[in-house]
Amino acid sequence: MVAGDVQIVSLRTREHEVAVAVLLGVAQIHRTSADARARGPGIAATYARDDRLQLWGAEEGGALVGIAGVEPLSELLELHDLAVDPARQREGIGRALIAFLRAEYDGSAIVGATLAQAAGFYDRAGFELAEDGTMASGEARLRFTLAT
Ligand SMILES: CC(C)(COP(=O)(O)OP(=O)(O)OC[C@H]1O[C@@H](n2cnc3c(N)ncnc32)[C@H](O)[C@@H]1OP(=O)(O)O)[C@@H](O)C(=O)NCCC(=O)NCCS
Repeated sequence: MVAGDVQIVSLRTREHEVAVAVLLGVAQIHRTSADARARGPGIAATYARDDRLQLWGAEEGGALVGIAGVEPLSELLELHDLAVDPARQREGIGRALIAFLRAEYDGSAIVGATLAQAAGFYDRAGFELAEDGTMASGEARLRFTLAT
């Protein structure tokens, strides 16, 4: 269930917006919060210049409340960045972004990597999770897959 009226929109040409950089920082859970915040604008610039990448936003009443950054590959969709405004988490917005990606990239499995702290979300959203190495921090890296 998504509270309110959330719409998924393309953020192509909107990568320079402050809210985009902030949410891209929120997505960097493998970094310290200060480092993650500092890197948001650079990651937004990467989405702006690399045509292979696509950035989607969840908007409510004109405010950006979530983002999903993806790279469509042959029969696969690599989910690079996913984040919901910390004040709006656990309201179904993350699930709505995944449902959108599933419909938009019909026929592609959705794959990516995460850490234990977000694994519960991917599990609840129907993804398979498998351990896939270790981060520099020593934390387990988990590969997530949502089959077609
Ligand atoms: C992970 C994230 C994108 C999920 O978005 P969200 O809008 O909060 O998730 P939803 O409300 O759609 O949750 C869907 C389900 O997952 C559960 N869930 C959400 N986050 C969870 C978490 N961190 N751990 C365990 N379960 C979680 C919800 O309780 C809900 O369960 P339900 O099926 O019982 O209703 C969001 O919490 C976030 O931005 N976290 C910080 C950044 C992050 O971790 N990004 C992913 C990096 S790989």
